[in-house]
Amino acid sequence: MIKPETVQKILDTARIEEVVGDFVSLKKRGANLMGLCPFHNEKTPSFVVSPAKGIFKCFGCGKAGNAVHFIMEHEHYSYPEALKYLAAKYDIFVEESERTPEEIIKDDLKDKLFNINSFAQKYFTDTLLNSQQGKLIGLAYFKERGFTDDTIKQFQLGYCLDSFDSFTNNAEKNGYKKDILSKSGLVIVKEEDNKMFDRFRDRVIFPIHNLTGRVIGFGGRIMTADKNRSKYINSPETDIYHKSETLYGIYFAKQAIVSQNVCFLVEGYTDVISMHQAGFKNVVASSGTSLTVEQIRLIKRFTKNITIIYDGDYAGIKASLRGIDMVLEEGLNVRIVPLPPEDDPDSFVKNNRTSFVIDYLKEKTEDFISFKTNLLLQDAQNDPIKKAEVIRDVVHSISLIPDAISRSVYLKECSNLMETKEQILINEVNKDIAKKYKNLPQKDFSETEAVTTAVAIDTDDNILPPSDLYFLEKDVIEKILLYGDFRSVYPEHDDDEISTAQYIIDETLGDNIEFSEPAFQKILNIFKDGAQQDVVPDEKTFINHPDKDVATTAANLISSRYSISDNWKEYKVYINDESSDISNTVIRSIYSLKAARIKILRENLHKRMEISKDEEEITNLLETDKKYKEFEILINKYLNRIIT
Ligand code: CTP
Ligand code: MN
Repeated sequence: MIKPETVQKILDTARIEEVVGDFVSLKKRGANLMGLCPFHNEKTPSFVVSPAKGIFKCFGCGKAGNAVHFIMEHEHYSYPEALKYLAAKYDIFVEESERTPEEIIKDDLKDKLFNINSFAQKYFTDTLLNSQQGKLIGLAYFKERGFTDDTIKQFQLGYCLDSFDSFTNNAEKNGYKKDILSKSGLVIVKEEDNKMFDRFRDRVIFPIHNLTGRVIGFGGRIMTADKNRSKYINSPETDIYHKSETLYGIYFAKQAIVSQNVCFLVEGYTDVISMHQAGFKNVVASSGTSLTVEQIRLIKRFTKNITIIYDGDYAGIKASLRGIDMVLEEGLNVRIVPLPPEDDPDSFVKNNRTSFVIDYLKEKTEDFISFKTNLLLQDAQNDPIKKAEVIRDVVHSISLIPDAISRSVYLKECSNLMETKEQILINEVNKDIAKKYKNLPQKDFSETEAVTTAVAIDTDDNILPPSDLYFLEKDVIEKILLYGDFRSVYPEHDDDEISTAQYIIDETLGDNIEFSEPAFQKILNIFKDGAQQDVVPDEKTFINHPDKDVATTAANLISSRYSISDNWKEYKVYINDESSDISNTVIRSIYSLKAARIKILRENLHKRMEISKDEEEITNLLETDKKYKEFEILINKYLNRIIT
């Protein structure tokens, strides 16, 4: 945990225009700066940075926030990662609280591991490019495989000499101790005589980078066709390298994955590198193992779409099917491209022109469910028992997809492919879902509920027009953020001046208004908490709030003032005739929201009256409706008067 004092220092020091300016070219425009939004494609700038408020906002795509949010969004960092990035930029020492002595030792070890890996990478690359043996064996090998100098440089490829301990010696000479050499896995210590030797000797080296581009481990490929030694060896698990959480190539691919909104998944190091060189940069490898949940979540930070490009061999594909269910469960869309049987992605892009590869990918990409169905059906041929198994298997996969609409689309497709009635498949899926929820003891989940969630959208739930309400709610929250501290005489509050925040709180409490948008409700609650202590929280409280939802929503709403005018509000000086404007717009926002809610309430009432057969109930409903109607008239009268 980063200490709150440090967090505050980072927030105070980071200048939004400098932080954004590292990535976006900004031009001065009045009190603000403008540029092309890095989060969506645009030709005319709608991306505004306000140095005074410390926030950015794009009027095109709506992204907004402070410097930390910008870095989180742009670099796909977590909150602490973004804070550390800013701390490094501004030379702020990051104090972490609650570090136990064990944690301090562990962090220290991690630093040392990063250092030795960085040293080793440079050493191996230098050996590859500059030593006689490196050039003759390693470099010649990479050239033979068609890797260009640029590719070799970018992926920081290397070579480890065919000698017992040349790396070990060099590292020791440079001050690295036996203990850390052994812990890094770069060096193996023999038990018998305690002698050290190089793990990767006589192998070409593939450094493995983490998300931020630091080397966390290595893969080494053998140079001879020795059947008794494994083709690839990798660094062992260390405090910084966890194979199951790593995707090879993610550092070089992340930007392209975001911009193309799809991630290609391949098996090996050379597949990643060759595809990259051929221009397909949104590619990562699971490095020979089957996918893990951690790897899937890593991809999910950048896109919801995975396209698996698998070697053509049939056994491999079948074995990997199971793992893919996990991807579905994470709510990602999975597609598959089968390659010709003799190819892997590396050879495929090397043996074909790029334009052909592009077309091939376009034509052969199949959604995972139909791919699996077809594959298994081939197996089952005309055997009815086997076919039933296939159906159950595929249906199980579908039941894992969290999104009800996607499920129903897949069910339709499968019913065609398997020549089975859709309803039968729906029933099967519902059974699976019901079973899943029955296994969760804390949730009360009946089978009938499962049915409705499985099939599709319940139209009755859609009476509320959420978008209308959303904009009216947004308007009220915008007012409380902008004018919360402005005092005025408000209706039904005698003749005393009260703060606008207090007025909005009272009005929403009085009418039991719960905002349908969680971020809005959270913001209101923060004002409520403040009111308990008789304070109106200021803008900074919201913009720098630890809850990202609150902070970015607030930044978004606060900055809307720049779209109006920006002179007087900067200093929060309210001049006389403007103050009556403010209270009027505030009242108008509140009343508009109330009017919309009443309208919806009445519509629901009318619906219920139509279907009800119970005389007494109808009479009651009519009574209620009458009260609502009076209220509605009153509100609308008020609104008309204000609007004039
Ligand atoms: N792998 C491994 N250990 C092995 C074999 C493979 O860790 N003994 C991993 C490597 O990450 C490798 C991937 O599995 O890149 C795919 O293996 P494979 O298809 O056999 O190798 P290729 O990537 O095709 O390598 P090459 O083209 O160099 O033969
Ligand atoms: Mn290969």
